[in-house]
Amino acid sequence: MILAANFKSNLTRAKTEEYIKKVQKFCEENTISDEVMVFPPASALRQSSLHVSVGAQNAFCVENGAYTGELALEQLKEFDINTILIGHSERRHVLGESQELIAEKFAYYKEQGFRIVYCIGEPLEVRENGNRALLDYLDAQYKGIDLSYANLVIAYEPVWAIGTGLTPTLDDVELIHGSIREDTKAPILYGGSVKADSARLFLALDNVDGVLVGSGALNPDDFCSMIADAKKLKGE
Ligand code: 13P
Repeated sequence: MILAANFKSNLTRAKTEEYIKKVQKFCEENTISDEVMVFPPASALRQSSLHVSVGAQNAFCVENGAYTGELALEQLKEFDINTILIGHSERRHVLGESQELIAEKFAYYKEQGFRIVYCIGEPLEVRENGNRALLDYLDAQYKGIDLSYANLVIAYEPVWAIGTGLTPTLDDVELIHGSIREDTKAPILYGGSVKADSARLFLALDNVDGVLVGSGALNPDDFCSMIADAKKLKGE
């Protein structure tokens, strides 16, 4: 399974260091074999540790250049970073990234061999129009994306579930992930208001290969408890 924490614009460099040390120690002591990823803010990027891969929340699709405010490949390489989130709902809906730009970033980081966590998810008005509309919306988010890329991870994060405390029903998650599974062999994560006490419910579902957690993972103890639950579910 894959347990991923997206810090968004939270935590400092010092707090991120502390966080990763704590999670690393927990994974070592509990012989964790699941994949654990952390996406800190750009100012806190650092090298991965043995158990904790550090990924970028965003980067522009160039090696370097005149792109004020953006990181590029050169800055990621400085920390040996080879994991990136692409298509996150906040990049799409708050920062206005188009599917075209997202597909360009995907193609660029695929070319670099990055592990790409590609995020998809529908807004509430689409959800309210039923399952067909929802699945068509997700299909449109595949435009320009190579779903057979070997180093791909899909994260299904309904926009209306992010940071709201709302989640789809477990039946809905199973249905939607089952449908995504028909399009790709990549691991599929669920994200959107996952908390320490609910992660195991999602992790236990068919076609849920992990979780991508925002606010519920800002405390390292909560994140470690999700990692422990994933291990328990495997019966280890
Ligand atoms: P929350 O867990 O805070 O709802 O955020 C989910 C998310 O966007 C992770 O990428």
